Amino acid sequence: MTNKLKYFIGNWKMFGNTADLKKIYQINRFCSSFKKFKKSNKVIMCVPSTLIYLFSSKVKSKIISIGAQNCHFNEVEGPFTGSVNSSMLKKVGAKYIILGHSENRLEGDTNKIIIRKIEIALKNNLKVIFCIGETMQEKLKRKTFLILKKQLRILNKKKFNPNNIIIAYEPVWSIGSGKIPKSYYVKNVLKFIKKECKKIFKKKYLPALLYGGSVNAKNVRNFSSINELNGFLIGSASQSPKKFIDIIRNCYK
Ligand code: PGA
Repeated sequence: MTNKLKYFIGNWKMFGNTADLKKIYQINRFCSSFKKFKKSNKVIMCVPSTLIYLFSSKVKSKIISIGAQNCHFNEVEGPFTGSVNSSMLKKVGAKYIILGHSENRLEGDTNKIIIRKIEIALKNNLKVIFCIGETMQEKLKRKTFLILKKQLRILNKKKFNPNNIIIAYEPVWSIGSGKIPKSYYVKNVLKFIKKECKKIFKKKYLPALLYGGSVNAKNVRNFSSINELNGFLIGSASQSPKKFIDIIRNCYK
């Protein structure tokens, strides 16, 4: 597979407990001994907020970092029942954060809210995994590029450092459905995202680009010809160390 592949990001969603620390150790052991896994490659496990402190204090590995999955948009602490903000997540050891995930967009995260979250997260030195993607309806209406452009446009409003942003293209219809787009479709979309990023960042260095949505050990090879791809955002398969390890292994076959 392309040597540009660098990131294997897990999104545990609302699953997991403290005993699952052993899953992280298992993945770490594999990556440390797998010769094809380069030093510059990274595994980032975005776990529930309840596990960040334990996992980040126990896992002292250059390969694996612990990330969060979402946060409140308020910069300082406040009366927001049930919420945590990015500064709190950073303080307990998160290094990355997923923002703009379609499951959170469904719960009410608008582009306006997401840009605020991105801004504050970056201010707190969290690297942002920014998710974008179209619904099936939008795809059928051939609106994919239009939707992605709108979602990306929010990055234009601020002068963000592209080094601190990873963009995950996740077609909403693919998340948790077992359906994946054809590889030429993903390639075209990533090319489009890259073109838009060039306009936004006006720099040589652009954010890394990931694909996410029903990635598993079998279908991961379908993406092998996509040069624009820098890695994967993996949901349900990331909760099983075996499945996650098989994805990494199959990428390098
Ligand atoms: P999935 O989830 O791999 O289970 O489809 C991906 C995601 O939600 O990031």
